[in-house]
Amino acid sequence: MPAKDEFTVTPYEVKGRIDYARLRELFGTEDLTAALLDRLRAAADRPLPPSLERGVYYSHRDLGLILDAHAKGRPFFVYSGRGPSGPLHTSHLLAFELCKWFQDAFGAEMWIQITDDEKVWAKTDLPRSETYRWGLENLADLLALGFDPKKTHVFFDTRSIAAMYPLAVDVARKIPYSTVKAVFGFPPSTNVGLVFYTALQTVPCFYPSWVAGKDVPCLIPCGIDQDPHFRVTRDLAERLGYPKPALLHSQMMPGLLGQDRVMSTTGEQKDNALFLSDPPKEVERKLKKAFTGGRATVEEQRRLGATPEICSVWALWKTKFAPEKAEFDQITGDCRSGALLCGDCKGMLIERVNGEFARHRAAREAAKAWMESTIVEHPPHGMDVRKAGAETPNRPVDS
Ligand code: TRP
Repeated sequence: MPAKDEFTVTPYEVKGRIDYARLRELFGTEDLTAALLDRLRAAADRPLPPSLERGVYYSHRDLGLILDAHAKGRPFFVYSGRGPSGPLHTSHLLAFELCKWFQDAFGAEMWIQITDDEKVWAKTDLPRSETYRWGLENLADLLALGFDPKKTHVFFDTRSIAAMYPLAVDVARKIPYSTVKAVFGFPPSTNVGLVFYTALQTVPCFYPSWVAGKDVPCLIPCGIDQDPHFRVTRDLAERLGYPKPALLHSQMMPGLLGQDRVMSTTGEQKDNALFLSDPPKEVERKLKKAFTGGRATVEEQRRLGATPEICSVWALWKTKFAPEKAEFDQITGDCRSGALLCGDCKGMLIERVNGEFARHRAAREAAKAWMESTIVEHPPHGMDVRKAGAETPNRPVDS
């Protein structure tokens, strides 16, 4: 018998110390190689964002096919989503910051799914009124990243179901119950909402192709924990006459209290994450007690240096708060050499985070003005919703 893995990663449970190389093997995804990143950089004709350059995104499916399509002048779109169970913390932005980069670099349309239904089904203690409220709050935060209002579309599940439902029906028909049970590891007590839900997470992958009546390739930046949903999508895509979505997978961000717990919105450890709504004093308090890779004494640290790789403060510089390479390399080098002490490093980060959060809060208020206009509630006017992917012109007919 193979050794039991010491970690669990599914869309509904992440625990243990994750071995990312092993996880890529288990999920059967591809390595995001330097050669592929070079191709992406060349196609975008601009520097890659830090999350790609520094290995936070480390795995993919079919990114090469997206670049092939782009090379032939065919547009692709980006898609990511959020299950609204509480306020956003910094690592929730990772996927959306990358989507924004794709929108800027390639002019890609952006589709955001807000799954207020999923969170009712997955967290039985949250009423629908709460996930709805958090859905709108979270959406304002996401749009505030600077998405183009004309190229950004939102499925807010309980409000968008009329647009999504015809496709959801076709998708659900192709998903055996045994698949859902095996892929998500659901126990018999799981409610049928959650059993059906994965069909809804697939809908945005196909919607632009369904509406256009031709293939529009889809690229999904997301945490690797979401991959199981899209394995299901990819398995059934061709049978419905739609292109398989491509994916870019990120590692899960370590929490402020140490590597073994990922940042999480809920649970006993709210001090484990920086929420975008945290006031300056709260940011200071949390960062001051954050876990670092420092030594027991100042003397030792000056002499031996610290270990950035295990430090939650360094992880924040790396993923978000030191986008310039020169600054990031300086911080990393000074940490390792012992020139930079943890207290000083934290002081610099507190100032940086509070500056960014203040800017973010202003952008968030501005985004509220156009947020409603992004929510898609019906298929395009005049569209025949009876058509299915395989029945549109130039597609093989599904039997
Ligand atoms: N299931 C995701 C969550 O719980 C939300 C989501 C919906 C999503 N569609 C997505 C995440 C596409 C990544 C990509 O947060």
